[in-house]
Amino acid sequence: MSSRTGAIECRSLKKVFGDRVAVDDVSFQVPPGTITGFVGANGAGKTTTMRMLLGLVAPSSGTAWVNGRPYRDLEQPRREVGAVVDGPGAHPGHSARTHLSIMALAGGLPRRRVDEVLDLVELTEHAHRRVDGFSMGMLQRLALAGALLGDPGILILDEPVNGLDPPGILWVRDLLRRLAEEGRALLVSSHLLSELAEVAHRVVIIDRGRLIADTTLDDLLAEQSHVVELRCADPAPLVQELRARQVKVVADGDGLLIEGLSARETGEAVAAVGAGPVYWLTERTGSFEDVYFRLAGSMPHPLSDVAVSS
Ligand SMILES: Nc1ncnc2c1ncn2[C@@H]1O[C@H](COP(=O)(O)OP(=O)(O)OP(=O)(O)O)[C@@H](O)[C@H]1O
Ligand SMILES: [Mg+2]
Repeated sequence: MSSRTGAIECRSLKKVFGDRVAVDDVSFQVPPGTITGFVGANGAGKTTTMRMLLGLVAPSSGTAWVNGRPYRDLEQPRREVGAVVDGPGAHPGHSARTHLSIMALAGGLPRRRVDEVLDLVELTEHAHRRVDGFSMGMLQRLALAGALLGDPGILILDEPVNGLDPPGILWVRDLLRRLAEEGRALLVSSHLLSELAEVAHRVVIIDRGRLIADTTLDDLLAEQSHVVELRCADPAPLVQELRARQVKVVADGDGLLIEGLSARETGEAVAAVGAGPVYWLTERTGSFEDVYFRLAGSMPHPLSDVAVSS
């Protein structure tokens, strides 16, 4: 393995296509031995950022570095950086083994790597089959095999679980974990935070080209709000009481949403002020997508802008 010390670094990275700013002042790093989830809605700028890191698109300004240099300055790019962007790029009439053999030859990589990576992505028994007969999951595996051919210390993977079935997603997650445990730096994109939440150590979130979060998963989890939904006979005195205790409470249809109290604490508060009987009481935890939307500002925090008349 050629490098475990370098990693990925974007500094004030910007890309403008005509009058469209696709990536706007984005800075982040991916240290070795970690998986960074790169999350954003469709059109947020994920692929463009990755393409700049891979030297496929020139930045309008700022820097996109791998192993401390622009990709085009790497001496043995395939041994340093492996990438999946836009699928495996295989000729439909070629077999998986032929496709990888051509890649190995072009990249100056040893032939034995072909069988090693086929084994790694569990495609050995299909290695002789034509790629145009491959399922979505097999194509993703083949693309990953290509990325791993040079045994690189850095992996840049654009939506590697897109279109996979649940077992396929679990398999990819497991592979990503193992690759990071071996000390590699992984940048993995998805438009769903929840898809990466189980494997990523850090999450970088972009929205309309701009970085809106660069944080650990633990910090992001702490952002998840805990909410109790309540319907009771006489909410007014309860609202008054909770507001006096600085508890966030808002109207939600004919019920209330209460943030930061447990179901038990809510039930006790209802009893204490005589707001009962209770018709409905349930606890819910905000989803990762709630956190994403709150950060992105495209959806208000569920408890932020509704008022209760009391
Ligand atoms: N070659 C190009 N020419 C013009 N505009 C482009 C080009 N490539 C990307 N864009 C625009 O840049 C913005 C970011 O696109 P990008 O593909 O990077 O987003 P993405 O986050 O990868 O989205 P998706 O989740 O749909 O893959 C979009 O508005 C897109 O239309
Ligand atoms: Mg994309």
